[in-house]
Amino acid sequence: MNLKQISRNILKKRSIDELLATSKKSELKKTLNVFDLIVIGIGAVVGTGIFTIIGTAITGSAESAGAGPAIVISMVLAAVACVFSALCYSEIASMIPVAGSAYTYTYATMGEFMAWIVGWILMLEYAIGNITVASAWTGYFIQFLKGFKQFMPDFILNFPLWLRYDYRTMSSLCNANGWDIHDKIPYLFGQIPVSINLPAVAIVLILTILLVRGVKESTRVASIMVGVNMFMILSFIIVGAFYVKPENWTPFFPTYEPLQGVLMGTFLIFFAYIGFDAISTTAEETENPQKDLPVAILGTLVICTILYVSVALVLTGIVPIERIDIAAPIAHAMSYVGKDWFAGLISIGALCALTTVLLVYQLGTTRILYAISRDRFLPKSWRLIHKKYKTPHVMTWISGIIVIVCGLFMDLNISAALCNFGTFTSFVIICIAVLILRKTEPDRPRPFKVPFCPWFPIAGIVICGILIIFSLKTLKTSSIYFMLWLLAGLLIYAFYGYHQKRIEERGRIVKKS
Ligand code: ALA
Repeated sequence: MNLKQISRNILKKRSIDELLATSKKSELKKTLNVFDLIVIGIGAVVGTGIFTIIGTAITGSAESAGAGPAIVISMVLAAVACVFSALCYSEIASMIPVAGSAYTYTYATMGEFMAWIVGWILMLEYAIGNITVASAWTGYFIQFLKGFKQFMPDFILNFPLWLRYDYRTMSSLCNANGWDIHDKIPYLFGQIPVSINLPAVAIVLILTILLVRGVKESTRVASIMVGVNMFMILSFIIVGAFYVKPENWTPFFPTYEPLQGVLMGTFLIFFAYIGFDAISTTAEETENPQKDLPVAILGTLVICTILYVSVALVLTGIVPIERIDIAAPIAHAMSYVGKDWFAGLISIGALCALTTVLLVYQLGTTRILYAISRDRFLPKSWRLIHKKYKTPHVMTWISGIIVIVCGLFMDLNISAALCNFGTFTSFVIICIAVLILRKTEPDRPRPFKVPFCPWFPIAGIVICGILIIFSLKTLKTSSIYFMLWLLAGLLIYAFYGYHQKRIEERGRIVKKS
């Protein structure tokens, strides 16, 4: 086969009309209003970012500078980075209200190869992002145990460190405390170090089993969870405000490399905003997508930004930067002022929030893998439906196992950075897709249009692009993992997906004749 034919194949698009025809068959009821959409948005957004990553974004890590109290500036910048892409998501979602999110939109605008790469990158957002959420879950689980220490037996309260942390985290902990790692963790056959984040593995396993059995998330359950989150966050802001010492806010900007600290903070805290794209996936079920989608997406961003900035001000006002706990900063802030029981309650709120995000993201991983496999990029056997529970059980187990296995050698910060790289890239692609569709499909009805096009999509591309380039240079380990991930995607397509697509095409031609 010649090069021309190959390039024609990899650019093959799916027609928008065909996609719309498929979606019409699903006949979903249009029942969601703005309020429901905001509840869905906050449920998918509020989680690890504000409950955990905020700690590292403020203090910095071995590879990156921290933002200090200027994290509030980083939060506003991260929200701005999201707004432009959010508007682009709204335009495409209301124009092509079909499941599959960025993967499907890319298939319709940039062709088969880019669609596969976007699907593969979305796995970073969903599956690898979940490693972050699961690790953070452990931090709050431990804080929860501490909060109720008078009721807990010692063997639960003080379970071994090598059963709490992945190997990377454990090594940093040993370095920071001057411990000999050989004293702290067992070695299998005297060679293989054993250090596992057991609570994270357990929660992922439990959720995977629940999903295989077909747990349905109802809006009611989501609303209750969101209610608990909001209540805990607001309580933290109100109670914590009484313990704020304004002197903790000086210096406001980090004295060492302030710009780098704020930009790095923006990149890391971006994780806290991921998830609003979930709103755009409900376009088919929204009463009035033209008005409601953008209002809900922007409303979620505004509400989250106000909450996040308030939390950051209270946290940095209570705890001096060098004393912030990076595993469970919000609950620890309450322990820091002697309110252990309140720290315990905050941990319950955080555990609810993180569990919801885990569940939504596990479901998301499965849905995207399902769409990709339906398009032949992954084996058909992965789509097998469970006879009794009627769920895609193979896919659900694969998603769970990816999180558990990758979690053995990635820590929370690396997986969060990878997730951010993936999400920023998909945002850039969505902004490009809007520009392409304005040219190729100028007359197709758009219930919602991005204002100031092409400037807003271009602003989205530029801001996300700058943050990707800056962070690729700074975060060496995650950058290497990101490149390896892209390379793996490329190889899978070249040796599997591409050929499967051609077999599918030949099959279609034979059927027609
Ligand atoms: N925004 C989600 C969280 O912070 C991913 O957990």
